[in-house]
Amino acid sequence: MSLPSFLARNLGSAVGWSAAFAVLLLATAAPVLTAARAASVTLPKGDAISGRGYFEDRCTGCHSIVRNGFGPRLGDVYGRRVGSVAGFQYSQALRQKRFVWSEKSLDSWLSGPGQFLPGTRMGISIADQQIRADIIAYLKSHPSGQDE
Ligand code: HEC
Repeated sequence: MSLPSFLARNLGSAVGWSAAFAVLLLATAAPVLTAARAASVTLPKGDAISGRGYFEDRCTGCHSIVRNGFGPRLGDVYGRRVGSVAGFQYSQALRQKRFVWSEKSLDSWLSGPGQFLPGTRMGISIADQQIRADIIAYLKSHPSGQDE
């Protein structure tokens, strides 16, 4: 084998490898970038005053701030563990979960309770993102669970 052809062959495979490596890098970087973008999506800022109106229109048929009704009381729901109000008979869908209600999880829940926690008995959803944010801001304004 002459030296130039040996070099050419190895150079060729080196180029091949780096191209393959670049493809691999791109393939692994893409999902990471997508995840980073998803995590940086911020929810709109909610307004507790208009949230109160929406809550009264759309939630108080089943919920109150201070008392259990057809749905559990919601005053201190922000920061509370899912399905944890004593004396309320939750569905299995909520009872078996282990997370604490945050702005993100409340937003996902209100977008579609049945998609977020399949099997839940809560059937209504709020399509408008700003209205969801306002309702969540209103819920956050009752940290003691009292009607303040
Ligand atoms: C038609 C009745 C009904 C309406 C209207 C309703 N809910 Fe519910 N909600 C329920 C029921 C029933 C549950 C318990 C679900 C289960 O156990 O599967 C629940 C559960 C919840 C939970 C979980 C609480 C916990 O303790 O984990 C939140 C949060 C919630 N509702 C928020 C709302 C908000 C905000 C609105 C208004 C936009 C609303 N709901 C409207 C019936 C309703």
